[in-house]
This record gives sequence, C-alpha cells and structure tokens, in this order.
Amino acid sequence: MDEHLQASYSFYTWPSAPVLAWFLWEHRRELPGKHIVELGAGTSLPGIVAAKCGAAVTLTDSASLPKSLKHVKRCCEVNGLQPSKVRVLGLTWGLFLGNIFTLGPIDLILGSDCFYEPSVFEDIIVTVAFLLEKNPQARFLCTYQERSADWSIEHLLHKWQLQCEQIPLNNLGAESGIDINELMEDHTIHLLEITRV
Ligand SMILES: C[S@@+](CC[C@H](N)C(=O)[O-])C[C@H]1O[C@@H](n2cnc3c(N)ncnc32)[C@H](O)[C@@H]1O
Repeated sequence: MDEHLQASYSFYTWPSAPVLAWFLWEHRRELPGKHIVELGAGTSLPGIVAAKCGAAVTLTDSASLPKSLKHVKRCCEVNGLQPSKVRVLGLTWGLFLGNIFTLGPIDLILGSDCFYEPSVFEDIIVTVAFLLEKNPQARFLCTYQERSADWSIEHLLHKWQLQCEQIPLNNLGAESGIDINELMEDHTIHLLEITRV
C-alpha cells in the first residue's frame, strides 16, 4: 500500500483493512465475476485484494476529498491494477447525488473502519440501506475497530430495516499460519455482515 502521513484518514491503512482483506482472500474462490463496491476505501486494501482475485471492483471514497480519490487511484497503480480493471468514484455517505446512481448491479459491499466516528454512522447505514434496496441479494461486509463500548449501530439497523450478524474471526488465518492478532495490531476488530431484514 502507498501510505502517506497526511492529515486525512484515507492515507493510512487502518488495522481493520488487513482483517477484511484476509477474510476475502480466504473466500477468494467466490470472488471471480462478482461486482463489489468498497465504501470509504482509503488505501483500498480489501478492494484491491478482491480485484486481484477476479472481482469487478469499484473503489469509492468521499467525493469531497479529491486528494483521497487520487490516492485511491495511486494505490491501484502501485498494485498493478489498470484503470480498466478497477473503477474509482467519489461517493459521499448519506448524499444521493451523481455516482451512487451509476454503480450498476452489486453483489457485495465492503467497508473497512468506516464506523470510526458516531456522527457518520447514520450516513453510512443509509447509504448501505439504499444500495441493498437496489440490490436485495447483496450484503455489506465490514470490519470495525472497537473504540468505545458506548458506540452502537443497533438502533440504526432497526430504523433502516437492516440486520447484522457477527462473523467469528477466531480461525481467520489459521490455515496459513497467520496470527490474527498481528493483523489486528492488538486492537479489537469485528467483522459484520449486514443485510436487509
Ligand atoms: C478510518 S478511514 C478507513 C480507510 C480504509 N478503509 C482503511 O480501513 O484503511 C475512513 C475512510 O472513510 C472515508 N470517509 C470519511 N467520511 C466519508 C464520507 N462522508 N463519505 C465517504 N467516505 C468517507 C475517509 O476518507 C477514509 O478513507
């Protein structure tokens, strides 16, 4: 990944990203031909892994952060993914403008460490609810880093008629001898699957 120490969350690969990327790697046989959209992609590790495994991937980050979007493109380039292989689009959570209507059919939505600040939780959930309404078979796979025991998305899932299952991570990496705690850098990270009720 091409990481920069800049004053934006999108230039750093957060510990949630390798966890989601590894989960996708372990399910790589299911990925070829799938249409995948990553939200708040930043350095885009999960989406890049999915693209490398044969999925058709659209990486998105905030439309109001052009430098971040440029950086997403740079991350694709340094990983040998040509623009013809991966789309990069501005998509701001909670805003129903422009690019969100051009995504086409979606099988899987990805998000790594998007739930990092409660003020944006509903914007993310409403975006996911919209995409799942358009693609009822799809699911949202997201990793999040536990930062406060008080934070919860449960009421928002209920409000937007979504349901959530936690996917256990205890065996992640075991077959390859990967220590999951090393991937998590000693943070507590969870993997959730969110679908329509
Ligand atoms: C904590 S970073 C996670 C980045 C990356 N997914 C990772 O795990 O390394 C949060 C990401 O969400 C993006 N973001 C923040 N607010 C956003 C918004 N309102 N709409 C879309 N993306 C947003 C940031 O630009 C950043 O890339």
